[in-house]
Amino acid sequence: MRKPIIAGNWKMYKTFDEAVEFVESVREAVPSDEKVDAVICAPALYLPTLVDLATETDLAIGAQNMHFENEGAFTGEISPSQLEAIHVDYVILGHSERREYFNETDEAVNKKVKAALSHGIVPIICCGETLEEREAGQTEEKVSNQVKAALQGFSSEEVAHMVIAYEPIWAIGTGKTATAEDANHVCGQIRKVVEELYDNSTAQQIRIQYGGSVKPDNIEELLSKEHIDGALVGGASLQVESYLALLDKI
Ligand code: G3P
Repeated sequence: MRKPIIAGNWKMYKTFDEAVEFVESVREAVPSDEKVDAVICAPALYLPTLVDLATETDLAIGAQNMHFENEGAFTGEISPSQLEAIHVDYVILGHSERREYFNETDEAVNKKVKAALSHGIVPIICCGETLEEREAGQTEEKVSNQVKAALQGFSSEEVAHMVIAYEPIWAIGTGKTATAEDANHVCGQIRKVVEELYDNSTAQQIRIQYGGSVKPDNIEELLSKEHIDGALVGGASLQVESYLALLDKI
């Protein structure tokens, strides 16, 4: 039985005060982490404060990106050891916005996954196809290539603890959600890739989220599907009410 994981990705939204107010409002209200992993991935600038505010609660805090090197002359970057030192639990890697606007490659994602694991940070590895690729029937190929590249060089034990987020790019922030059947189908294909690369037990343990216009009124159907273990949520994670409503549906 895989524990659901609902992660909010705030992207580049919220002022510092709004972020603090949000975490203060939800930290005692999120369900027990024995039932669901509730995560907020906030702008890097706010992480130390939010981690402090969430200490000893069931809310976990994540980053939205990091470099794979531990230190060096990389202006503007944040390292895995810096995230580890402030006790960040999760990091989103390979989000389509980073791949598209910041040239994040499959190779870089793989290095970042490696770095995250060696610093005790759970990677949320994103994959997904564009509308063009979907219409050309290339969804499976695109997504499995991204997953294979990201998972290169890990043991089955390491892979079992990772999280993969399937986010069809055409569904992000557009209000268009993949049907629960479609999303489940692709998540099932991802699980199959993991089984082919490792074994059935690893494939049964890895958690796979769906992301793309997830809202309180569609999350239940998505989560009822066999291969969907949670959601990576943008817009609907920005308001206290809708974030808690998503968690309420578990
Ligand atoms: O990472 C989450 C995201 O890309 C989905 O955004 O706003 O469609 O829920 P949204």
